[in-house]
Amino acid sequence: MSFLGRAIWVISIIIMIAGLVQCTKPPKEVPKDDHQTTEYNIQIPPYFPNVLEIPADNPLTVEGVELGRYLFYDGRVSGRTHPDSLMSCGTCHKQDNTFEAGPERAFPVGMNGDHTHHVMLPLINLVWNFGQYGWNGSVGSLEEMVLAVMTDPFEFNSSYEQIEQTISGIPGYPGLFEKAFGTPEVTAERIAKAIAQFVRTLVSGNSKFDRYLWGETELTSQELHGFILFTTEEGADCFHCHGGGGNPLFTTHLFYNNGKDTVFNDPHDRYAITGDPMDKGAYKAPTLRNIEWTAPYMHDGRFETLDEVIDFYSHHLQWSPQIDPLMHHIANGGVQLTPTEKASLKAFIRTLADSSFVTNPEYDRPDTFPDGNTLKSYPFE
Ligand code: HEC
Ligand code: HEC
Repeated sequence: MSFLGRAIWVISIIIMIAGLVQCTKPPKEVPKDDHQTTEYNIQIPPYFPNVLEIPADNPLTVEGVELGRYLFYDGRVSGRTHPDSLMSCGTCHKQDNTFEAGPERAFPVGMNGDHTHHVMLPLINLVWNFGQYGWNGSVGSLEEMVLAVMTDPFEFNSSYEQIEQTISGIPGYPGLFEKAFGTPEVTAERIAKAIAQFVRTLVSGNSKFDRYLWGETELTSQELHGFILFTTEEGADCFHCHGGGGNPLFTTHLFYNNGKDTVFNDPHDRYAITGDPMDKGAYKAPTLRNIEWTAPYMHDGRFETLDEVIDFYSHHLQWSPQIDPLMHHIANGGVQLTPTEKASLKAFIRTLADSSFVTNPEYDRPDTFPDGNTLKSYPFE
């Protein structure tokens, strides 16, 4: 441990210095179309990667992020104005639950009245996800995700024209589009760009574990024990798929079959995207940051608690030809943790919770929308 701890410490100091240099840059004007916007200075937590997924044709700007935040929460972005028919990204992606819907609405209901295929994914640190969004990676970019949500029957169930017409008719919005994009024109593509910008600013990197790496706090001996288990093959062996050691995102953004079943019938797994039979039953290994707010667990929400998840990885793995080779302990049915080890692993995973993220006022629903409307009366909230 002491070697690993020291190595992480030294690396984090180096990256922290790099991060400070990054953060102290003064905001500068960046030319865009034929008008000026203000560069949005995204705060990269110490030791997080400096390479970000920001497309060249949609740089982060203060004006774009502000517009995106309004649109993310404004139920009229579904192209409807009747109070009973409003839906926004924020209807399902709620800050309190690290931008998931919460356990009572694990499978949210879309505008067509049906449940979504899978449980939700949190919107955190997606500025480090280079494509392949969703449990099966079917969506290539955040902009593409917004455009898909607009017409998806399980989500807004609307059309680009209806949405463009609705938003352009709301006083205040055309002016904000002009500030962000140079002209007051409201297009689905611009809406997608603005919302994608806002989503890219949702950065979570201030958990107890982060503060431990910065030397600001200590982990208990139980939490440290859990960290060692998490990051060793002979321990709980979680790190290959969920990061940890050198990967502060706690996800590889990759897809694996983690041995839950022997038969695979879900028409929305990774196989549906790649056509490779070895991808049957494979899904994204989600980030374990803020995981205590995202129950129930797995794409189908089959586990209610972290204890159930840890029991599964310990004793209940199912062999199939598709099981990922990184499930090294399949021959024993799991990593066979003792009750003490299970408690330590859970204690460590809970150090990944960042409460400053779920209360950050910059990510919260605005009190009023550009036309002064407060719009608090959603049917789903
Ligand atoms: C009806 C509820 C609902 C609404 C409304 C909704 N989402 Fe989602 N979102 C989901 C569900 C469910 C998933 C998981 C989908 C899957 O992969 O099967 C998801 C997944 C995502 C992901 C993938 C995250 C990842 O880690 O890959 C992103 C990004 C996202 N949503 C953004 C948005 C944005 C932006 C909006 C608004 C334009 C929005 N969502 C509106 C339910 C919703
Ligand atoms: C072979 C790769 C792999 C290994 C090793 C692995 N996981 Fe996972 N994990 C996944 C995948 C893939 C999913 C999503 C599976 C699904 O939804 O069906 C997942 C899901 C989870 C979830 C639920 C996430 C959510 O948002 O619902 C938790 C918690 C979790 N893993 C913890 C662990 C722990 C703890 C370990 C070590 C004991 C571990 N994992 C080892 C691949 C892996």
